[in-house]
Amino acid sequence: MKKIVSVLLIVCGVLTAGYSDAEIEKKVTDLLNQMTLDEKIGQMNQYSNSWDLTGPKPDNDRNEARYEDIEKGLVGSMLNVNYVKNIKAAQELALKSRLKIPLMFGVDVIHGYKTIFPIPIGLSSSWDMTAIEKAERIAAREASAAGLNWTFSPMVDISRDPRWGRVMEAGVEDPYLGAQIAKAKVRGYQGHDLSDHYTIAACMKHFAAYGAPNAGREYHSVDVSLNSLYNVYLPPFKAAVEAGASTAMNAFNTLNGVPATGNQFLVNQILRSKWGWKGVIVSDWGSIGELRAHGTAKDLKHCAEIGINGNTDIDMESLAYHNHLKELVEEGVVRENQVDEIVKRILTLKYKLGLFDDPFRYLDEKRQTTELLSEENRRASREIAKKTFVLLKNNNNLLPLSKNIGSIALIGPLVKDENVSIGNWACQGGHEKAVPVFDGFQRVLSEKTELLYAMGCDIYGDRRKRYDMEIDSEKFKAGFAEAVDLAQKAEVIVAVVGETRMMSGEASSRLEIDLPGVQNELLMELKKIGKPLVVILMSGRPLTIPWIAENADAILVTWHAGIEAGNAIAETVFGDANPSGKLTMTFPRCVGQIPIYYNQLNTGRPKNRDYVWLSGYIDGPNSPLYPFGYGLSYSTFEYGDPILDKSEMGFDETLTVTIAVTNTGKRDGEEVVQLYIHDQVSSIARPVKELKDFQKVFIRAGETKIVKFEITREKLIYYDENYEELLEPGDFEVMIGTNSDEVKTKTFTLK
Ligand code: GLC
Repeated sequence: MKKIVSVLLIVCGVLTAGYSDAEIEKKVTDLLNQMTLDEKIGQMNQYSNSWDLTGPKPDNDRNEARYEDIEKGLVGSMLNVNYVKNIKAAQELALKSRLKIPLMFGVDVIHGYKTIFPIPIGLSSSWDMTAIEKAERIAAREASAAGLNWTFSPMVDISRDPRWGRVMEAGVEDPYLGAQIAKAKVRGYQGHDLSDHYTIAACMKHFAAYGAPNAGREYHSVDVSLNSLYNVYLPPFKAAVEAGASTAMNAFNTLNGVPATGNQFLVNQILRSKWGWKGVIVSDWGSIGELRAHGTAKDLKHCAEIGINGNTDIDMESLAYHNHLKELVEEGVVRENQVDEIVKRILTLKYKLGLFDDPFRYLDEKRQTTELLSEENRRASREIAKKTFVLLKNNNNLLPLSKNIGSIALIGPLVKDENVSIGNWACQGGHEKAVPVFDGFQRVLSEKTELLYAMGCDIYGDRRKRYDMEIDSEKFKAGFAEAVDLAQKAEVIVAVVGETRMMSGEASSRLEIDLPGVQNELLMELKKIGKPLVVILMSGRPLTIPWIAENADAILVTWHAGIEAGNAIAETVFGDANPSGKLTMTFPRCVGQIPIYYNQLNTGRPKNRDYVWLSGYIDGPNSPLYPFGYGLSYSTFEYGDPILDKSEMGFDETLTVTIAVTNTGKRDGEEVVQLYIHDQVSSIARPVKELKDFQKVFIRAGETKIVKFEITREKLIYYDENYEELLEPGDFEVMIGTNSDEVKTKTFTLK
């Protein structure tokens, strides 16, 4: 029976996916010609189902009228409606409308739906595009099993400022890596056929440059040069477009003084004209209405005018289109064919999703029951989590610990925390507890090992401690004594510290990015005992941890590692897994260095020696605590010299570079071999190095692998101030290594 069903499903899949663009175009046009202006505007209106879940409540509450609006065909899509029962109810309402146009249902499925995977900065740190795609594929399967057909993901905002809380949502400072991850996530969500009821529409966000807010302060204005916009912040969006992203989301910020929402330069010139993208743009939550606060619109009606002239197709929760667009058309301020163009895009997407063929196609109670939080999905989350951990330090190969160790002291506020590893943006996973570290250790260890535990302190301490220095933090150290006593009995101390899941994410910028509360002081007390000290760092961002870097014997960054965190961490600490993650954002020594990133310009006075008149600080170094691309392994890897197949390369030629990488350790392991390029002389100053390729390779102990890269013009071009490709002859350096600091360099000439 199952085989017959699956054959039928494939046939259905082929049938619904069988529409050609021309057939969809005709169906959409026929439908549009039947629609009233109210019904057209309805398609551009998006309501949330739950209040304050992911944004502030609109000022004029239409809660009671929302369901009537759906029934009248005045709503085109919903967000934050979850599970078959609720989605079915809303869809049945929509099908009571005159033209029975089905709703689309979107949710922020960022790193899992019910089975939660590592937060995106963790997924990014795996440098494993296959793993990232798989995580999002499973997320899409679970979300679609719950009735959804659209996710507001991937967030592809490049950021160089870890004070900004949303670095947890991508956590990448490099455009090339950001672009590869964007493609992997779009593929994961959308698969090969949007109408397949296992896939959902992706949404590249936030367009654009939201990751560069002034002072790292959430929602703050963004001022970036066109050079940075074109060469740093846009490439991941361009990659998502090339991967077929169906939708995009506006950003909250102003970009060089103009709000990104309703921004004609960004949307009409870049997205629509330059890139020829025909997808659907949804505003961010209320961002059309926020044009008033930005000071570029005098009232909500004016917001609607700007929104539509900037081709923001769907209004999420500001009611600007719902309340004022009809007037604007009737007054001739907005032409109806502008509305028509937008509605065509929305209806086209609904056809591609298969919603017209079967508005209930995504609604399958059985799938919802069997797929969500399945053992198979949990296992996948655990396996992927192990690829995301970054080993920053491992003195004397302290890690992995032996499973036969006599006693371990597990100390810290996050040892038994079931919530922290779900991370922010945990979708429907927030209600399922993650496996805490303590449970993971218990599972891996035998009764022979004495597993001691003390919390030591809470994670907050006093939030104001930073600013009311006279506040005596002694009271927050009450648990120190017990922790120290306990730790003295153990062979090794494993401290689990960091940030809670809500200290990063939206509206979670921080002024200081050290360990919150008195956690660092707790570590200092533990260090005095003189036992080996392992620090497991859970956070949603790079943290300033100079004392830990200096004094811990081993440091494992695990981010917020998802629902199986404790198991994945324990398997890594005790050697069932070999860490292979690499940093995708620079770890600064202190907040004063921010913004700090590897792909910086050289300046006219590079700090290449100890001399006063050079670009640097009088009170500290330029170098970060840990650089982009950094991460150790239980293995060690030795790099040979890069070998170029030619020393000169024509504009349309391919230069091949190979390098021998040997695993000189005692364990098999994976290494991310990174290739950087430096254009030595160019019309516009270029970064001292830029990531242009990488390969994560598995190498057995003692084995040597020859890793091969191909350099083509695509890896050498950059964009000028007119967003035109620029490729200039001259000398280039090619650098290959284990991180952005440790590289081996050869040069070639582009002729
Ligand atoms: C939020 C976020 C956006 C999210 C949207 C819907 O404010 O900025 O990323 O997709 O609202 O939840």
